[in-house]
Amino acid sequence: MRRRCRALPCCPMRLGRYLVAGLAALVLMACGPDESATGAEIYSQVCARCHGADLSGGVGPDLGPGSSAAAQTDEFLVQTISDGRGRMPSFRQTLSAAQIERVVRFLRQRQGQS
Ligand code: HEC
Repeated sequence: MRRRCRALPCCPMRLGRYLVAGLAALVLMACGPDESATGAEIYSQVCARCHGADLSGGVGPDLGPGSSAAAQTDEFLVQTISDGRGRMPSFRQTLSAAQIERVVRFLRQRQGQS
């Protein structure tokens, strides 16, 4: 029995381990940053991989001083982050309204506008 168990990936024990790992990954993805995370923390955890750690862009456009994002209204930024735009995913499920506000404040600070 023990030999068979090792050979079969569908052994209940192994299956349990895969399930736990899968669930943990799902929970992490769905939860996103801590509710109390600062705008800078949220940005570095979920935005920097596409917009660059220094806001200068990458997959997504430059968000820093003088960028088109700097000229947009706060409402446009909030809407873009909530709903997504083009290749940018929606963050409605990942970030709360308060977190989105905080990340917009962070962008404004970096853009030198507040
Ligand atoms: C998977 C990559 C990706 C991630 C992650 C991402 N973005 Fe984007 N973002 C994009 C792309 C691509 C665009 C351009 C969308 C378009 O207009 O077609 C964009 C556009 C934007 C714009 C509008 C810029 C403009 O000039 O109109 C803002 C603001 C923005 N992103 C902020 C954020 C913030 C804040 C986060 C983190 C919460 C974030 N993005 C996460 C890819 C990403």
